Amino acid sequence: MNTELIFSAGPGPAFDTFCQGRNYASVHTLTDSNTATLALPVLAASSTILAEARNWTMPAGEENKNLATLSNLWTELESAGATRRSLLVNIGGGVVTDLGGFAAATFKRGMDYVNIPTTVLGAVDASFGGKTGIDFGGLKNQIGTFAAPAATIISDTFFATLPPEQILSGYAEMLKHALLSSSEATHKALDFDPVADLASGNMLPLLRSSCNVKAGIVAADPHEKGLRKSLNLGHTAGHAFESLAMRRGKPIPHGYAVAYGMVVALILSHMKLGVGTGLLYPLAAYVRSHYGSPGIKCSDYPELLGFMHSDKKNTAKKTVNFTLLKNAGEPVIDCATSDNDIRTALDILTDLI
Ligand SMILES: NC(=O)c1ccc[n+]([C@@H]2O[C@H](COP(=O)([O-])OP(=O)(O)OC[C@H]3O[C@@H](n4cnc5c(N)ncnc54)[C@H](O)[C@@H]3O)[C@@H](O)[C@H]2O)c1
Ligand SMILES: [Zn+2]
Repeated sequence: MNTELIFSAGPGPAFDTFCQGRNYASVHTLTDSNTATLALPVLAASSTILAEARNWTMPAGEENKNLATLSNLWTELESAGATRRSLLVNIGGGVVTDLGGFAAATFKRGMDYVNIPTTVLGAVDASFGGKTGIDFGGLKNQIGTFAAPAATIISDTFFATLPPEQILSGYAEMLKHALLSSSEATHKALDFDPVADLASGNMLPLLRSSCNVKAGIVAADPHEKGLRKSLNLGHTAGHAFESLAMRRGKPIPHGYAVAYGMVVALILSHMKLGVGTGLLYPLAAYVRSHYGSPGIKCSDYPELLGFMHSDKKNTAKKTVNFTLLKNAGEPVIDCATSDNDIRTALDILTDLI
């Protein structure tokens, strides 16, 4: 996966520099109905290439990450005269970069694309790593391919217009990367408030460290045969919290569920791998004060366990596979965990947050 990760407070000029000497036949941009007004004008004002590029805007929202939008984008690329030597620039959150990346990977058997993420989740997770795709048949990311962007240009320029809840949701993935990196990175991440400290100038360096953790893991295991599963930290229980909230008609942002799931993973790491509580307690305190409580009761456990057993990343039947930590920066994948241990961890979780 040869994606150039470019970190810059000036994404427009950084894009123009990236294009130098590349001689793309034409440049096309994809935005959604929010980033068309919140991000594109900022980029067009500082990039001569983006100012001249032909833009197509998709409706915002996960419900539009579908075949109909993809087909409309292919039609637009065709009528705009795009060729295999053209470039598609995806400007937006994970929905835009997933769908635009898949469109680029398949149009004329593949054209280059560049992502300019505008959400925190997009910047640190969705905009590089090679996974592209759309939702299909009522299921998320069912159709897609691995196709790396030529470059991802990461900046914090666009975050000021994001709702605080969405900033925090993306930040949970940054906490995850920090836990997968080192104790020092974890404490640094826990010392930062991504909403209150957004304009402090510290966000961009944190984005850089965070992205480099994911990039290193993806480079070692691009197709998720082993190590890449460590990026699933917090997601086994997290997906269960997310699904339960959805079933109750009170959806919670993905990152909030992952934050609760990471606390569960650290409790299990303590119980099963003998990890001290030096990471668990500060993380739980941070999650409690920034993400609140998951609000689960003992009567929810059977449903939560049901979701964990049906998670597509679980192959064993009697146990649930978790990614745990031997220490900060030392993930252990595929830790088979019994229902009893999970129930105990959920009891401790509700005591802690
Ligand atoms: N490919 C991967 O590796 C990967 C990894 C994680 C998530 N994802 C995907 O990413 C998607 C979620 O990403 P997301 O949370 O960025 O969602 P999103 O793209 O839907 O963005 C969320 C909302 O924020 C708006 N928005 C975007 N930038 C904004 C800004 N700067 N200011 C104000 N509003 C803005 C969007 O228009 C949208 O309404 C999911 O589809 C998920 O499957 C992919
Ligand atoms: Zn996630």
